[in-house]
Amino acid sequence: MNSMKAISVKETSELKGTIEIQGSKNTILPIMAATLLASGVSVIYNCPEIEDVQVMRQLLECLHVTTKLENHVLTVDTTGAAYAPLPAFLTGKLRSSILLLGPMLARWQKAELGMPGGCAIGLRPIDIHLEGLVKMNVDVNLHKDVLSCKSFYLQGCEYHLRFPSVGATENMILAAVGAKGRTILRGAAKEPEIMELCNYLISMGVLIEGVGTDVLVIKGTGVLTSSDYCNVFDRIVAGTYLLMAAALPSEIKLLGIEDVRYLKNVIDVVERLGVNVIKMDNYLSVQSMGKVKAGEFETGIYPEFPTDLQPVLLAVLLKADGESSLTEKIFENRLGIVKELKKLNAKIRIREQEAMIQGGIELQGHTVKATDLRQGAALVVAGLLCKGYTTITDIGYIQRGYEDIVKDLQGVGVDITYV
Ligand code: UD1
Repeated sequence: MNSMKAISVKETSELKGTIEIQGSKNTILPIMAATLLASGVSVIYNCPEIEDVQVMRQLLECLHVTTKLENHVLTVDTTGAAYAPLPAFLTGKLRSSILLLGPMLARWQKAELGMPGGCAIGLRPIDIHLEGLVKMNVDVNLHKDVLSCKSFYLQGCEYHLRFPSVGATENMILAAVGAKGRTILRGAAKEPEIMELCNYLISMGVLIEGVGTDVLVIKGTGVLTSSDYCNVFDRIVAGTYLLMAAALPSEIKLLGIEDVRYLKNVIDVVERLGVNVIKMDNYLSVQSMGKVKAGEFETGIYPEFPTDLQPVLLAVLLKADGESSLTEKIFENRLGIVKELKKLNAKIRIREQEAMIQGGIELQGHTVKATDLRQGAALVVAGLLCKGYTTITDIGYIQRGYEDIVKDLQGVGVDITYV
């Protein structure tokens, strides 16, 4: 991983070339947590070599799991797995550390961990996770930011999530694998990452009904077998580059996208913006004139437009042929990019969760700061549209989820370097 602290990007007139899309971050993290449910070796292909995966490996290693990551192949050996508390200095680096709670309870009926971290994009509470686990006969204690959970035995339950939280759905599924009887989850999240997790668990021997719907029925089967997994492409990374193509005359190929269904919500939006997307045999052909059509947009629960791409869309709308509006409906504090974009001369007004973006204003390169993963990637995209050079600092945030955004953009002809 590149240890440089900033990225410098020059104004770009067109995008031409090829980008290989990395494996999905949000899929691999719950799958890594799931390996803990069985004893043995799992080989996971197409694993992105990103910071969040490295932290998840360290967390598994605290539980005496051995891991190896080489050439995008992750090997996880849980044969010697043994209970240990998870330290706050590691759990605090990653929101998905909370996903180890379910498998730890399933395997050891107890778990102690520091509070999860992750991007500062809202309150990000874990009340739904905990409420569901309490229904499963778990005692939950939170003392001085250390979460202690234990259960005499996990009891399958019927639980209706008050909001289809992705993480809470994953945690409940993972815990249910070790519960007596069956668990019925209503109002579950339906993201592709949930479907991938369910199919992986089915390959380990878990019985799950309702995959792809908001009602999931999970039944553990006692002894599970370790299973291998081939990771899907990262739909948010692919979406970042599809949106970027809207803002500049583009003729690019995105490789590694085997199933476009997971991108439909993004393709619908980029087509509205003026991009032409064609699925070829082994790549996605993306063409645009770089003329962005203004409009009204909003994020929403899957399959609506993903909140993770909201900052990138916001940056791209700065090139639109009029005023656009973009409403954030998932996280309450996710318009943080606006402050940095204003340093680039952007004209944006915020009213509660809605941003009004004035298109067509000349943007000027400046130094801006990444403050979370997707906001950071969006600033890189904004840099392409600014006069002169733009420097993005604190790029550690971007490296949590993008394996090498600089190499990706160099592949489509952008003048961009680590500095
Ligand atoms: C996951 C994704 C993240 C994405 C988000 C929404 C991973 C590793 N991360 O995050 O990239 O932006 O889904 O698509 O997969 N909430 C509660 N209580 C809870 C849990 C969540 O109120 O117990 C709220 C959150 O504050 C937020 C909303 O529910 O407003 C969505 O959160 P959730 O779906 O849980 O997101 P994550 O799983 O953290």
